[in-house]
Amino acid sequence: MSILVTGGAGYIGSHTIIELLNAGYEIIVLDNFSNSYPESLKRVHEITGRDMKVYAINLLEKDGLEEVFSENKIQAVIHLAGMKAVGESVEKPLKYYQNNLSGTLALFQAMQKYSVKKLVFSSSATVYGTPKTVPIKEDFPLKATNPYGRTKLMVEEILHDLYQSDNDWSISILRYFNPIGAHPSGMIGEDPADIPNNLVPYITKVAVGELDELKVFGADYPTKDGTGVRDYIHVVDLALGHVKALEWNLSTTGLHTYNLGTGKGYSVMEIIQAFEKTCGIKIPHSISKRRPGDIAISFADPAKAEKELNWSASRSIEEMCVDSWRWQSNNRVGDNKKGKKDEEIEATF
Ligand code: WQD
Repeated sequence: MSILVTGGAGYIGSHTIIELLNAGYEIIVLDNFSNSYPESLKRVHEITGRDMKVYAINLLEKDGLEEVFSENKIQAVIHLAGMKAVGESVEKPLKYYQNNLSGTLALFQAMQKYSVKKLVFSSSATVYGTPKTVPIKEDFPLKATNPYGRTKLMVEEILHDLYQSDNDWSISILRYFNPIGAHPSGMIGEDPADIPNNLVPYITKVAVGELDELKVFGADYPTKDGTGVRDYIHVVDLALGHVKALEWNLSTTGLHTYNLGTGKGYSVMEIIQAFEKTCGIKIPHSISKRRPGDIAISFADPAKAEKELNWSASRSIEEMCVDSWRWQSNNRVGDNKKGKKDEEIEATF
């Protein structure tokens, strides 16, 4: 029996399949490589010494999806595939609804057809919108404020309806806070195709000289130093949270939602200082105006995941900075983008 990981070649996906392989699971990867590279999966194979089957398809390809489910005995699905740039989702909402909603619906219909009713779904803290208070608990009001966040919230609602219609499903909804860092090997990491939207990959590209200066989006928020506060979580801690959620899904039925965060908030300036201190590199930066749509403060109350999944984040902000730096300095522009996207993807790595 195998675990199907959609988006398995991506940043979260590649780190998650490493931990799944290390835990002994058989893995099948489905990825359209629109925002990832086969090279990442080759490196996962190098790191773990384990093989995995790979299907280079888009969830909207009905025949391709049929092939995945008819050719394999799938025990559970970890659904990570999706577009995730907030700004892009505002510019191109239909692309986001098509990809994140229609693609997800096609996946769930295939799961239902083949009676695969164990699912870990990648959601996001963005579904909380602007929280009234912090730390944020899972039962806080939900209000997405951009098309990307709305696709996540809509899928959560679809899953609640699905579970109501058939209690044989076992579903865990994981709301990620801010994943950063990289596998300690330095062989895989966050590898945005274009100029990074997110803070830490932008910082590391400034550190290696690919970008000149970090713009700090606003220093007039009601926070400790005026800059935005977020709950940064090491991507390996996040990956381990998926393994714990999967174990829960395999053991029973039900639908549960969990915050995957550390429960601590750091400001932009604190991240810059932590990076400079741990990596010994000055990060040139200047204060600019707020980024539209940004909120002041967001960090998790992770108590529910700690109690029910026996999971908590353990890696420090210093480890997050060092691991990010090791990845970036080992993988300057283009390194991880070996070969063209349409290269013949080996069926098994
Ligand atoms: C963090 C802080 C910025 C870049 C987004 C998505 C969320 C999730 C993670 C998918 C904020 C500041 C950033 C820069 C800056 N993605 N910043 N200069 O916005 O909290 O979350 O990514 O699941 O859904 O909304 O993360 O890293 O973009 O920003 O000052 O060049 O860094 O203002 O305070 P964010 P981020």
